[in-house]
Amino acid sequence: MLRRDFLRHAGLLAGTAPALGALAPAIRNQRDRIFVRERRRTFDPTSWSDIRDQFALTRSRIHMASFLLASHPRPVAEAIERHRKGFDEDPSTYWHDHFQSAEPAVREAIGTYLDADPAHIALTDSTTMGLGLVYNGLVLQPGQEILTTPHGHWSTIESLNLCAKRSSAKINTVALYDDPAETSVDMVVRRMRSSITDRTRVLAVTWVHSSTGVKLPISEMADALDDINAGREKEERVLFCVDGVHGLGIEDVTVGELGCDFLMAGTHKWMFGPRGTGLIWGRADAWDALDPIIPTFGPSVGVWIGALPPDTPYITPGTVHTPGGFHSFEHRWAVGEAFQFHLAIGKSRVQTRIHDLNTRTKEALASLPHVRLHTPMSASLSAGIICFDVRGHEPTAVVDHLRRRDIVASTTPYRETYARLAPSLLNTEREIDRTIDAIAELS
Ligand SMILES: Cc1ncc(COP(=O)(O)O)c(C=O)c1O
Repeated sequence: MLRRDFLRHAGLLAGTAPALGALAPAIRNQRDRIFVRERRRTFDPTSWSDIRDQFALTRSRIHMASFLLASHPRPVAEAIERHRKGFDEDPSTYWHDHFQSAEPAVREAIGTYLDADPAHIALTDSTTMGLGLVYNGLVLQPGQEILTTPHGHWSTIESLNLCAKRSSAKINTVALYDDPAETSVDMVVRRMRSSITDRTRVLAVTWVHSSTGVKLPISEMADALDDINAGREKEERVLFCVDGVHGLGIEDVTVGELGCDFLMAGTHKWMFGPRGTGLIWGRADAWDALDPIIPTFGPSVGVWIGALPPDTPYITPGTVHTPGGFHSFEHRWAVGEAFQFHLAIGKSRVQTRIHDLNTRTKEALASLPHVRLHTPMSASLSAGIICFDVRGHEPTAVVDHLRRRDIVASTTPYRETYARLAPSLLNTEREIDRTIDAIAELS
């Protein structure tokens, strides 16, 4: 990154636009291009079959585990290809021409989707990277503790272990439910409340558990935390940190409605973003509690080399907490298209469709006498993941059986493992019925 580039892009070079505000048109142009491309699309975002046609996903199988890693829909694939071509033709020029406008455009698209200030969005490569950065960047005072649950993913548990090693913070664990199928909002909130002490500084949870399919009532938990935090100094507030990867791209909520302090999520699962992308969103007054772990690039470097004033408005929590280094930019810069894709379909329609397909699947599974459903039936306590057991068959045997019928399912990667289905926007009612018929054969 050259001093000249900062000057040129910030409009400070002699003979170019005179003000820092010159960056704004560049961002607007980038956004306009996103919308123009959306308008040129031939797919009808109200048609589920048109939406399915946007994916190169093979038709020879039924995809009941597509949440694991996204297949790129056409707008995302095209954006990746466009950036890849530019980089392959002339990496240096392409990067210099886009590095200051591309990420702001991505943040804008995410901000629109989450109803969040783009300044408070950091870009990552995965959920795991976001969890690692947040849990290891937390500034903890001696004696302060972390409260977590046994329901989270390895990436949360190990990030917290690494944090505890470094800071000697104590980690406490509370089971928010025993039998996932019997989870209730009251039970979760009550157990959470009763485990928070004066020393609890961090509550680290997962929105939708890939271990059981339970969706935690995040906003009800946030309300209860508001009561607890009301009597605390800022440095002692309980920070509510959420691994949101299996809620993002399904639930029709904004970050304000969720009410947490930090949301970490990969954008390469339910969001259909480019593989190897993710985000951290932080509440405006929560970022102070976090130190960056990996040096950022972007405007901070501009200040370092003296090309931007120290108080440049381009330095935000979102840029400071975005790890630097050169990335697979053709993927990162195409994240905005995934959020636009969801917005074109409509957040509310996405939520309704995924919940409808999941309810259909759960009701059918529950009607099979040899199947035990572990995920709650209620849409308020579940989202897109369904965990179940088939009497007399190991979960891997169930998945193998389905595989032989060209149905791709998965098992939960946890000590206690279940068979798992994840009906998504890429499935039809017929596919679900075929999957249920295949499971019925195991009686
Ligand atoms: C709840 C949960 N969190 C985090 C991860 C890891 O996600 P990523 O691959 O984006 O790091 C997974 C994996 O699927 C998961 O299920």
